[in-house]
Amino acid sequence: MRNRYEDALKRIAEKFRRTAETAAEEGIIPYQSAEGKWIVSPYDGNSWWTGGFWPGLMWQLWKLTGDGFFLTEARRAEKLLTDEFRTFRKLNHDVGFMYLLSCGADAKLTGDEQAETDLLHAASLLMGRFNPAGFIRAWNEPERTGFAIIDCMMNLTLLYRASRDTGDPRFRQVAGIHADTTLREFLREDGSVSHIIELDPETGKRVREHPGQGWALGSQWSRGQAWGLYGFALAFRHLQKPEYLEAAERIARNFTAHIREDGLTDCDFCQPAGEERIDNIAGAVAACGLMELAGLTGEEEWAAQGRRLVDGLLDHCADWGDSRCGILTHCTASYHDDGAGRHTNILYGDYFLTEALMRICGRDAELWS
Ligand code: GLY
Repeated sequence: MRNRYEDALKRIAEKFRRTAETAAEEGIIPYQSAEGKWIVSPYDGNSWWTGGFWPGLMWQLWKLTGDGFFLTEARRAEKLLTDEFRTFRKLNHDVGFMYLLSCGADAKLTGDEQAETDLLHAASLLMGRFNPAGFIRAWNEPERTGFAIIDCMMNLTLLYRASRDTGDPRFRQVAGIHADTTLREFLREDGSVSHIIELDPETGKRVREHPGQGWALGSQWSRGQAWGLYGFALAFRHLQKPEYLEAAERIARNFTAHIREDGLTDCDFCQPAGEERIDNIAGAVAACGLMELAGLTGEEEWAAQGRRLVDGLLDHCADWGDSRCGILTHCTASYHDDGAGRHTNILYGDYFLTEALMRICGRDAELWS
């Protein structure tokens, strides 16, 4: 008998098979959907950090169904993303998100040699952002030379993979240095993590914490917690340092203690009571991180918590109808800035919901390994 997770995957594949054709016709990489239309990213065109999630989703669905439509659509978006190599100044630490889920997925799933070359090119761009004072620089503005962010823990996967594929340890050594700095500077006593820390670019010493996409300075932006959880779990998987696993479990304990009764995730775990601001992307990312933790530790409890999050998303926030092209509702890009979407469908929510379901069903394309 099929279970609800297999059913949900089938419905995801059916819906995107219906709606993705329009994205191809328009020649765009979708960022979100509303009122029956795809909407592109609000900033920086195809260099915006989210461009990899659409091809990543197509690759997961190709792995699930074997339908060549998804492969063709993934490659169409991959081409648009590799064209962005020419806009060097717009690219930042998020080349991990962009190219692991596009070229990286292609190289992994089909063995395409050009895709592998493009993946290594992206890894070299990420290496070029390394400051020997001990961290990978997040963004490019001159006044942000010393900024590092928790999200980058996910991008490190590009470096683990490049070391494995080339036999050159430098990539994973740099990843390890950045992960150690993140452990030291971002992880708090209560198991929560900061979003943005400014370091002195000459010495690597902490200057200050900055407010990020959460409610307030020192609060707990839930998606940042999810990036930390999943990112440290992946760091342990690839670098085998026990401190990374401990960190992932501490963050997981704090995260799961804050899951709402209905299984959904508030945008910030410190947000004022009564303020209804949900970010389902955080729940979907955390579900993937928890499934990863379950695999690393053999602890069924982490998998149960991951399913609890996925159940919440399927019970309350999956739109299977045709009024919008995507599926997951109540995605919120940032607590205070609604410009990139608030309580709406955002495609990286759909990507991580799909990955979580693929993991639960033992079908994941393993794009982070
Ligand atoms: N990596 C940026 C974000 O999660 O919004």
